[in-house]
Amino acid sequence: MWGGRFASGPDAIMEEINASIDFDRHLYRQDIAASKAHAGMLGKQGIIAADDAKMIAQGLDTVLSEIEGGTFEFKRALEDIHMNVESRLTDLIGPAAGRLHTARSRNDQVATDFRLWMRDTIDTIDAALAGFQRALSEKALEHAGTVMPGLTHLQTAQPITFGHHMLAYVEMISRDRGRFADARKRLNESPLGSAALAGTSFDLDRDMTAKALGFDRPTANSLDAVSDRDFAMETLAAASITSVHLSRLAEEIIIWTSPLTNLVKLTDKFTTGSSIMPQKRNPDAAELVRGKTGRIIGALNGILIVMKGLPLAYAKDMQEDKEGVMDALSALSLSIAAMTGMVTDLVPDAPRMKKAAGEGYATATDLADFLVRSMKMPFRDAHHVTGRIVAKASALGVPLHRLPLAAMQEIEPRIGEDVFSVLSVDRSVKSRLSYGGTAPKNVKAQAKRWLRKLEKEKA
Ligand code: ARG
Repeated sequence: MWGGRFASGPDAIMEEINASIDFDRHLYRQDIAASKAHAGMLGKQGIIAADDAKMIAQGLDTVLSEIEGGTFEFKRALEDIHMNVESRLTDLIGPAAGRLHTARSRNDQVATDFRLWMRDTIDTIDAALAGFQRALSEKALEHAGTVMPGLTHLQTAQPITFGHHMLAYVEMISRDRGRFADARKRLNESPLGSAALAGTSFDLDRDMTAKALGFDRPTANSLDAVSDRDFAMETLAAASITSVHLSRLAEEIIIWTSPLTNLVKLTDKFTTGSSIMPQKRNPDAAELVRGKTGRIIGALNGILIVMKGLPLAYAKDMQEDKEGVMDALSALSLSIAAMTGMVTDLVPDAPRMKKAAGEGYATATDLADFLVRSMKMPFRDAHHVTGRIVAKASALGVPLHRLPLAAMQEIEPRIGEDVFSVLSVDRSVKSRLSYGGTAPKNVKAQAKRWLRKLEKEKA
């Protein structure tokens, strides 16, 4: 493509380090769409003949069907997707193909292709995240009243409902989707027509190509346009945070399904056996989701480091932008699918959860609240009195609701029989009616709100 100035071909190692076709071939659809938009615009502006523009468009359609049909031969010697497509176009339509690259460079080309690819990928991820939210919300509705131990420091804290726990993740994923949407909005400008770095002397209609490709507008500075990869960094930042969220739920599933807690069962669909220990049911899918966080955050680090200190405008370092992004976003997609599958699959052991929720004096706060409410005791005093009652129950080896009233009255004589009404885990969760609280009534309403919202989104 640049033979004019060169007397001999590249060294084999040069070719090896230079080629990006092994991964940028995934941009073929976007590359062809951008070339078609460019050729159409060149034709309309009279920069190339209308006949040539038409031939180019038809030839590009043929290239597309060859790639999709699996008959296209990608050549490493042609370095990247842009030159592979153009070279095949030349085979197909002859010299007219040479007019396609008028007023264009691979620098604005790759920036355009990659933005388009990112936009498509964000849309796919967003749809998958919506599906994940749906699975979580359905589980939440089903288990709005299923009591489980709520933990802080991994220690039994207060009873909560399993539905409430599921909905916590729906909120996280909603913020994740907001971050992807935000990145998408900002990336949706067309670099096409920025050429190598300085713009071009041809009378382009950049609004036309922007519109044809579904961009909101053309980018305003050609230097920035060819050297910007913020969209990749932003998308990977959103992906990293999402993967952190997924890894937290993965970790919880691992804890819940461990025989040490036995709170949740996964079916055979999402567990594996051991080659030596016949009793094992390992939560491999959850562990892999937790593990994939490493490569996703790694890719974010990778691109930040590639871009750090790069002078304007394009530099070949930037070719290192794609592999990590593609790998990370496909790992994320797989992780979302696996988590959606596991959430749908999992079955909480309700009796076991309820029992665990009552262990560790989980309703102690309810007792303190009772003292505040029924005898107007300041909360700090109520906390102290409750602490003494808990200590007594613990010394006798009984849960709070089994401690005789007389034993409580030894510590606080004003306590009456009605104290027992607040000590059960069911009563405890039912009382948490504050907005955003874990009461089954709240959880049901929130789960329904989410399911309605997600349904509306689809329409
Ligand atoms: N394969 C290159 C990339 O991915 C395309 C741009 C090449 N530009 C250049 N000036 N060599 O970045």
